[in-house]
Amino acid sequence: MNEKIAQIEKKMLKDLEEVKDLKSLEKVRIAYLGKKSMLAELMKSIKDLSPEKKREYGPLVNALRASMQDKIAQKNDYFEDNFNALSEWIDVTAPGQRVTRGHLHPLTIVQRDIEKIFTTMGFVIADGPEIETEFFNFDAVNMPDNHPARDMQDTFWIHAEKNVRHVLRTHTSNVQVRYMQEHTPPFRMIVPGRVFRQEATDASHEHTFHQFETLVVGKSISVANFLHIAESFFSQFFHAEIKIRVRPSYFPFVEPGFEFDISCTNCEGSGCSTCQRTGWIEVGGAGMVHQNVFLAAGYEKNKYTGFAWGFGLERLAMMRYKIDDIRHFHGGDIRFATQF
Ligand code: PHE
Repeated sequence: MNEKIAQIEKKMLKDLEEVKDLKSLEKVRIAYLGKKSMLAELMKSIKDLSPEKKREYGPLVNALRASMQDKIAQKNDYFEDNFNALSEWIDVTAPGQRVTRGHLHPLTIVQRDIEKIFTTMGFVIADGPEIETEFFNFDAVNMPDNHPARDMQDTFWIHAEKNVRHVLRTHTSNVQVRYMQEHTPPFRMIVPGRVFRQEATDASHEHTFHQFETLVVGKSISVANFLHIAESFFSQFFHAEIKIRVRPSYFPFVEPGFEFDISCTNCEGSGCSTCQRTGWIEVGGAGMVHQNVFLAAGYEKNKYTGFAWGFGLERLAMMRYKIDDIRHFHGGDIRFATQF
């Protein structure tokens, strides 16, 4: 009996030594501690022994079982702690699995570029609400009720409360007076943002699009300052020497008002199909801030001068990336989005 116990123990220690992973450890456990193991046989045979022998061998067999359980548990812990290192082999030279990463939308890329250029020129970035009161969207920028110019901007009206009319802002000019009410000139600021118009959509019109407002106010700001800032901005944005041309136009919040064109980025002004052979591309509206806008902001009349301009972000992105339809931006077609 003694010999048998010693034999089993020796064999198990040897088998345990050869165990290389959790799987083979389980096999050893079943072989030595399982229902049909040698140990189980041994325990069964004790039943048939005389009482003295039972007393002699019983504890020995129990001790063997306890020691085996202990050793297997130790080994089990060891594998669990060091499992990867011992049983998994990693081929560090195998090609990896490609992870699809998200990326910035072209409008975000363009917006960030523009913000970078302006902030290096000392402008601050301002923000305002997309759901706006009638006052800031229209009245404050010199467009009182019944003003015919309101018709230029097909508006989504929201009748949220009695007597207070809200709109989905039709332009980023809504931030002009909001900003002026809280700041004292001189200042230079930009407002990138989403705007809305009740439009029939086509390749160059969307109901939801983005604008970029620029507002500079001080004691002696002139059109020359506008021309310089605009030329310098567009040249940096397109990495080319861009010229600016202004044409008389009308916006209620500026006087004088103009529309401005940039020299064609495709043909550099000599005339091509992009610029319809004119050499110029229409970009946005601008002008010298109307004194009524300063009054709405609480400034003294004729104390300050300033210029404002606004243009569509989509338009710049379309020129830079040669996108032929504005509806792609929010169309949700993954084939469009993954190109940037
Ligand atoms: N807010 C005008 C528009 O949306 C653009 C503009 C801004 C014109 C500032 C002049 C000055 O049409």
